[in-house]
Amino acid sequence: MINIAILGYGTVGSGVVEVIKTNKNSIEKKAGESINIKYVLDIRKFPGDPIEEILTDNIEDILNDDEVKIIVEVMGGVEPAYTFVKRALLSGKSVVTSNKELVAKHGAELLEIAKSKDINFLFEASVGGGIPIIRPLNQSLTADEIYEITGILNGTTNYILSKMADEGKSFEEVLKVAQEKGYAERDPKADVEGHDACRKIAILSSLAFGMHADYEDIYTEGITKITKRDMDYAKKLGYTIKLLATSKKIDHRIFARVCPVMISKEHPLANVNGVFNAIFIKGNVIGDVMFYGKGAGKLPTASAVVADIVDAIKHLNRNILSFWSKEKLELMDLKDVNTRYFVTIKYDNFKTAVEEVRSIFGEVEVIQLDDVEGEFAFITLEETEGIINEKINVLKDKEEIKEISSTIRVER
Ligand code: HSE
Repeated sequence: MINIAILGYGTVGSGVVEVIKTNKNSIEKKAGESINIKYVLDIRKFPGDPIEEILTDNIEDILNDDEVKIIVEVMGGVEPAYTFVKRALLSGKSVVTSNKELVAKHGAELLEIAKSKDINFLFEASVGGGIPIIRPLNQSLTADEIYEITGILNGTTNYILSKMADEGKSFEEVLKVAQEKGYAERDPKADVEGHDACRKIAILSSLAFGMHADYEDIYTEGITKITKRDMDYAKKLGYTIKLLATSKKIDHRIFARVCPVMISKEHPLANVNGVFNAIFIKGNVIGDVMFYGKGAGKLPTASAVVADIVDAIKHLNRNILSFWSKEKLELMDLKDVNTRYFVTIKYDNFKTAVEEVRSIFGEVEVIQLDDVEGEFAFITLEETEGIINEKINVLKDKEEIKEISSTIRVER
């Protein structure tokens, strides 16, 4: 019998208890051991809940108990999770976590401690909720040199953008409904500003490229500036807009970014809608692989946590290697990365405005919406972001151009 302790009895923690209870027989068969939840740590009380008897608010009860072999950290946030997890690993207990903030910030260090102790630090649920993605990167795709990861890694923003596209509503309108339905947090900043997706792509990049990608180095732009009108233009062009988290190897350098991108309807990620997540990986021998599923929610996330618990039990005194060193991954400056931009401008005189745009950007096609006066859009040719931004600045200063109202990256 293996004793485990769960730190945090919130949505994911209670989901873990439920999954272990619901699928007890099959899980224990796969683990080759019975699983006993010896403690649940939480400062809150849960009167009447079956876990009441094993509830503690004192981490020392757990850390000082030699019978506890695996700790499941599902509290979220960096502290006190980091202190608890580090102490657990140093005392020889394997740790399973769903905490992306913790993994993105301290993953390299915690993996190193686990390796030195011949135990494990596992975090499948930290990216993509129930979608298996960490394990494939660590195990199934190890024959490959991965050169691109692009994902829809945040369910809240994908839900908002999908609704904006389908129902012609504004960002603010959809966010309000999403909050009322409980899909979006009351403080949605981490999601809508792209910070959540940024931490997740930092974790995936670190695993794929074997070095520490610091999330603070990753260019991050959220979806708050995407308008109904942008969606109308996208539709007219046969495109849609998605918040994409990307890291990509170009020659021997890597760039990473999180931002809204206009993608054509043929793009593999274009039909990933609602709260679903998907991760698209390109490897030099396997080619293209895509992972799709529920990126959040109590049971999908708990499913990934429990799968890690089973793995930790199967490898109790043997470290399953992760290729994520402490060495910092130097990321390319985005200004050196090629892209195309969708740009909308407001003008007084159509003919001269088109001439101004074409004198700077070349023979770009002018796109207009039937019901919109005094505005047109165009898509730049492919150039480095640095050059495109210089050109946008030159355009801004032209007398004919009243305003540049949108700039969104475009990928085929
Ligand atoms: N807030 C996250 C999302 C939850 O919307 O995807 C999962 O990390």
